[in-house]
Amino acid sequence: MRDKIIAGNWKMNTTVDDAVKLATEIKARLTGFKDAILLICPPDVNLYPVQKIIEKSVIKLGAQNMHYEKSGAYTGETSGEMLKSIGCDYVIVGHSERRAMFGDTDVVVRKKLQAIIEHDLIPILCIGEQLEDREAGKTEKVIDSQLNAALKDVPTDWMEKIVIAYEPVWAIGTGKTASPGQAQEVHKFIREKIGREYNPNLAEETTILYGGSVKPDNSDALFAEKDIDGFLIGGASLKADSFEQIARSASS
Ligand code: 13P
Repeated sequence: MRDKIIAGNWKMNTTVDDAVKLATEIKARLTGFKDAILLICPPDVNLYPVQKIIEKSVIKLGAQNMHYEKSGAYTGETSGEMLKSIGCDYVIVGHSERRAMFGDTDVVVRKKLQAIIEHDLIPILCIGEQLEDREAGKTEKVIDSQLNAALKDVPTDWMEKIVIAYEPVWAIGTGKTASPGQAQEVHKFIREKIGREYNPNLAEETTILYGGSVKPDNSDALFAEKDIDGFLIGGASLKADSFEQIARSASS
């Protein structure tokens, strides 16, 4: 059975006090939760204080980014070793905001993916089309090419560790969620591609998350789709009650 994951991407939000408060509240609300892996991804500066809150709970820690070099003169960057040393388990890579604003090209995404795996961390590889792509009927073409670039020469044993997050760019932070049917169609396309290029068992075991305006009022319907294995949540992960309600979609 593939993992279900409910992940909160806090993006550039929370002071250390906010982060500690939010993590404490999420931990209290979801004590003993077993129906999915719970993951929170605070900004780097808050990773360590948040880890201190969640370390003995069911909640796992993720980073929003990581540099592909091991160490050295890379001002402002964070290495895999650093993330590992504070107890991170997951790293988001290829988020559309990083692709659009911080130079994370396909080549950079591929290098980061490799570094994440080499540090024994789990990558959450984000892919997704722009609105123009969808309107031009090019969604599958874009998804296909993003996957080809990120997974170039990725061997089967790496692929077994990778989580994929389908995040249509037009649905991120806009309140416009992909309909369950639209999301399912792309998730199925991704799973079938993995099945063809690796093997059908691996495709069945790959966790594919949906992200883009996930809210408590749409999470049940999205989760009911066969190929949707959880969520990468932005805005709604910044409130403990909405994060909890979305997590509970995994239980139904
Ligand atoms: P929103 O849930 O705010 O649309 O953000 C989605 C996202 O980008 C998660 O990585």
